[in-house]
Amino acid sequence: MRDDAKNRMTDRYAVIGNPIEQSKSPIIHSAFARATGQNLEYAKLLGPLDGFADAVRAFRGAGGRGMNVTTPFKLEAFELADERTERAQLAGAVNSLKLEAGRILADNFDGIGLVNDIQRNLGISLAGKRVLMLGAGGAARGALQPFLAQKPAELVLVNRTVEKAKALAEQFKSHGPLIGCGYGDLRRGRHFDLVVNATSASLRGELPPLEFEVCSEAGLAYELAYGKGLTPFLRMARDAGAPRLADGVGMLVEQAAEAFLWWRGVRPDTSAVVKQLTVPLS
Ligand code: ATR
Repeated sequence: MRDDAKNRMTDRYAVIGNPIEQSKSPIIHSAFARATGQNLEYAKLLGPLDGFADAVRAFRGAGGRGMNVTTPFKLEAFELADERTERAQLAGAVNSLKLEAGRILADNFDGIGLVNDIQRNLGISLAGKRVLMLGAGGAARGALQPFLAQKPAELVLVNRTVEKAKALAEQFKSHGPLIGCGYGDLRRGRHFDLVVNATSASLRGELPPLEFEVCSEAGLAYELAYGKGLTPFLRMARDAGAPRLADGVGMLVEQAAEAFLWWRGVRPDTSAVVKQLTVPLS
């Protein structure tokens, strides 16, 4: 087949962000495409800080079928979309776009990716569990509805800026037993089955002001950041006695699998890619 004919048949996808060099999405989606026999090409796009919408439209004009969206464009992508799923509306941000001729559809798979990693890959059911989530920014917000849908006994959202946690708890109260509070409000002797760090503290090597003891009964401590080894949060949880530690590499791969399914109608197996990208937590 001639090259130009072959190129016309290859569907184009990309991840857009700024910066973008660090993105693992091309590795993940290319591996999915190979494993499922899908003919597609997946690139990295450095989005101009003042020209996100134009970059998306230009990509669609050049035959682009879908995009993943990362920092700092998740809110702009939300605004740009013509249609958003309910999940994306609750998250207030989107991480995946489907580019059709007359419209742009948007979804957010970050929260479901996290839930799938915990339940399917790590084998821990959220039903009936006492869950503590640290942070009340975009990452935490995106996880609230997918977590509450699994019917935990309680979900406590703790944040440095207490009002943000309380506002989210109010907004999501019809979805399940969600409480918003500050770190000082967590009584000594409070314990959780699962502690999830959804703050951005680890990106700067910082530790949220969480009492060590709060993690002492946690069966799993989960760090949303990935590829950073033993972060201050994971180290603290380990020292408190948490038997299992995980970082967000599985979440990254699982959200990609959901996007791939949405775009291509095929669910890829994730285990080999998770294994390939895992950095040991030591
Ligand atoms: P993201 O989209 O990654 O969630 P964000 O919306 O900027 O990023 O939110 C960052 C979250 O990490 C916030 O909940 C922030 O707490 P504040 O709302 O009080 O700012 C939290 N965070 C960042 N650094 C932290 C630290 N050192 N200790 C505790 N929380 C921290």
